[in-house]
Amino acid sequence: MEFNVADLSLAEYGRTEITLAEHEMPGLMAMRERYSGSAPLAGARIAGSLHMTVQTAVLIETLVDLGAEVRWASCNIFSTQDHAAAAVVVGRDGTPDAPAGVPVFAWKGESLAEYWDCAEKIMTWPEGRDANMILDDGGDATMLVHLGKEYEDQGVVPPPESTDNAELREVLKVLGRSLQEDPKKWTRIAEKIQGVTEETTTGVHRLYERSRDNTLLFTAINVNDSVTKSKFDNKYGCRHSLVDGINRATDVLIGGKVAVICGYGDVGKGCAESLRGQGARVIVTEIDPICALQAAMDGYQVARLDDVVGDADIIVTATGCKDVVTADHIAAMKHQAILGNIGHFDNEIDMAGLAETPGVERKQVKPQVDVWTYSDGKSVIVLSEGRLLNLGNATGHPSFVMSNSFTNQVLAQIEIFTKADSYPIGVHVLPKHLDEEVARLHLESLGVDLTELTKDQAHYLGIDVAGPYKSELYRY
Ligand code: NAI
Repeated sequence: MEFNVADLSLAEYGRTEITLAEHEMPGLMAMRERYSGSAPLAGARIAGSLHMTVQTAVLIETLVDLGAEVRWASCNIFSTQDHAAAAVVVGRDGTPDAPAGVPVFAWKGESLAEYWDCAEKIMTWPEGRDANMILDDGGDATMLVHLGKEYEDQGVVPPPESTDNAELREVLKVLGRSLQEDPKKWTRIAEKIQGVTEETTTGVHRLYERSRDNTLLFTAINVNDSVTKSKFDNKYGCRHSLVDGINRATDVLIGGKVAVICGYGDVGKGCAESLRGQGARVIVTEIDPICALQAAMDGYQVARLDDVVGDADIIVTATGCKDVVTADHIAAMKHQAILGNIGHFDNEIDMAGLAETPGVERKQVKPQVDVWTYSDGKSVIVLSEGRLLNLGNATGHPSFVMSNSFTNQVLAQIEIFTKADSYPIGVHVLPKHLDEEVARLHLESLGVDLTELTKDQAHYLGIDVAGPYKSELYRY
């Protein structure tokens, strides 16, 4: 079996954690039980690009139990949990000497070149069998297929030196090589892909852009905008994992400190709440008047970063936007202030601008924690090189919240794979009854007793006793 992970001897530790996680992932375990025997994903070859964590291991093995063949890479160079990756490769019945699980190409601390090699490796099985489904987080796998086909149509890939974007350079290297070796590779894969299910806000933006430009090559389900994803994982997940990341990275006392959260969307709301919960005085920055007003009504000061950057002990970006914290902002931060990003891509903080500042020096404290010192002696602590810190410095969201997200992923994969005709090329969301079902699957283990409508009450509200309970316009 082909695979590339850090160390297979970590598999036993990984398997123990996966077993513990299964108990906390009732939605995924219900999927296994419901579909045991019927294998709705038999014939699906899923190329997965999503943080290779313990929780993702439970997702991968659920997809396998539903009949799919799966290959996996992480969607971030720092987010892989090596013990989880090892356990998935070894599998439930294998040993480190005779792995019998799923091909995983992911380890913590990949270079950008390695990252894009891994992204390519998940697309093709031995004997030339290509993926026919993508499960994506942030849209990198989807982008690779689209860009690959575009360049094949043009018959030429631009030289890597043509861009100063380090990430794009690596993509161009991969595509340039594949054009030489297999000139119709991405065209062939694009034709076979039945659809993609996309996990996160940033990946979903990229899909809607392609859909608007009529350049989307296959259909997509926007998993992020299931209510049981974005209103839970993005909010409650980040409420848990932001402080986890800051604590593991720095162990600084958060109480009494001034913290700035850039962006008050679902992620920003969870982040602000978690820092306030630790006793920080939280300031929010926003560009959207509605979210700014929400932050103000939730009791946060709302200000411009320019005006408060020098007061902050902690600054975290959560916008999905670029150039939010500039090199000038970093230069204006307090001595030993902490800077990190929890948004999907590393362009929220101008790390290149920081590196180019005359006289600045970088010293690694430990992996994913760097102190950047200016020539006057002032320093700033930067987490995960500006990449998402909850996965780089900690272990991402806990199992229970990821069970909600990943149950949506499984349902979305089944929908596209088994009901292709219902999902023409475009970006779709799961029907509301499935969203409600995901929530329902998670109630029992929290001891929630749901009130049932009477027929008369249901008639009065104009809805069915079994739901859906809200209109598409309801915002939760
Ligand atoms: P969202 O769209 O709900 O929120 C982003 C907010 O940032 C919006 O309210 C927007 O108005 C604001 N914003 C945009 N540009 C800004 C700027 N220049 N300054 C200040 N505010 C600005 O998106 P969501 O769901 O909160 O996701 C944010 C990012 O986090 C995305 O990149 C998403 O993919 C990522 N994400 C990361 C997770 C993690 O575990 N690290 C989990 C879920 C999402």
